[in-house]
Formats: sequence, structure tokens, C-alpha cells
Amino acid sequence: MATTLGPARPVARSASAPPDDLRAVMRLFPTGVTVVSSGRGARAAAMTANSFVSISLEPPRVLVSVMKSSRTYPSIDSSGEFQVHLLSDRQDEVARLFAARDKPFGHALEGHFATDGETSRPYLPGALASLDCRIEERFPGGDHTLFLARVEHVRPGEDTGGALLFHRGRLTPAPAAAQ
Ligand SMILES: Cc1cc2nc3c(=O)[nH]c(=O)nc-3n(C[C@H](O)[C@H](O)[C@H](O)COP(=O)(O)O)c2cc1C
Repeated sequence: MATTLGPARPVARSASAPPDDLRAVMRLFPTGVTVVSSGRGARAAAMTANSFVSISLEPPRVLVSVMKSSRTYPSIDSSGEFQVHLLSDRQDEVARLFAARDKPFGHALEGHFATDGETSRPYLPGALASLDCRIEERFPGGDHTLFLARVEHVRPGEDTGGALLFHRGRLTPAPAAAQ
């Protein structure tokens, strides 16, 4: 399917591409899918995120971009820590659940996560892996904030299957050749 962009026009120095053009182009770029969780008890929150990126191995640093108006944002911002759960190709329903506005929040989240005996941090059963992250820097990103975080602990998942991808607006299993 061809991507339809707005009409060509001269580009000024202060130009900003229309959001719909950016959205149309980003649909072409496949990413993995994660759930980012943060907070405890009544403040526990989790959301689907594909902006997750590995930044540095030494020191171990990752970045995630979080919409300021999301309900998960205050939990991440105030606790200074979050967990990233890498979703497997069997977790498309999990991705849909945590992308919805109407989803479990606070204590209602407890049934969806388990607690790691060593770190006492939550992890998502069935995920490929979970990372425990502590925020080191925050960068403004328009209607999002970029959280740069140190990875304190990595927990491999029990599921060694394939990854879940987001491509052309769809949640789809990674092709076998990519695993
Ligand atoms: C595949 C996918 C990836 C997403 N990635 C992000 C992301 O990186 N950052 C973000 O702020 N929202 C992202 N979203 C949107 C949030 O999951 C969505 O706005 C969610 O409702 C936020 O939940 P909350 O308001 O309860 O925190 C993504 C949604 C989908 C379906």
C-alpha cells in the first residue's frame, strides 16, 4: 500500500512536518513492543510502549519516551524508576490491554504482574525479559518526556519464543528469520 504524504512544498528553516505525515511515515518503521510499568500499590501503572531503545552498554542505559498526559507518566516521574517488559509474539493481547485508556491501574494491576524474589520488583510473566531501570536524566520531547535510565537489573523471561512487532499499525509476530 502506497503511503500518502501531503503536497510537496518549500521547506522553511522553522518548518515542522504535519503530524499526519510523520504518523504515515512512522507506520513503515517496525519496532519491538514493550510494557513499561512503574509505581507501587495504589500508584502502580503500566502502558504499552515502542519508543524503548538501548543507548549504552557501559554504563547500561536505556531510553523511553512517555506521553506527558498518560496516567503512567506521574508514576514514572515521581518514583524515579520503571520496569520495561519485552513482549513475546504471544502477548499481543497484553499489548492491546496496556495501550487502552480503560485498563487496570493501582492495586488492580497486581494480578497481571509477579514479583521477582531477588529484587522485589514486578515482572510480566510470559515476557521475553524485564529490565529494572532507575532514571538518570529527563529530556523534553514535545508532548512526551524522554527518560534516560540506568539498567539496574535484567531478568530473562521463561519464554524464549519470538518477539512481538508493531508495523503498519498492527501487532504482528517477528518473522522466523529475524529470531
Ligand atoms: C504499539 C504501541 C506503542 C506505543 N508506544 C508508546 C510510547 O512509546 N510512549 C507513549 O507515551 N505511548 C505509547 N503508546 C500509547 C500508550 O500505550 C497509550 O496512550 C496508553 O493508553 C497510555 O496509558 P496510560 O494513560 O494509562 O498511561 C503506544 C501504543 C501502542 C499500541
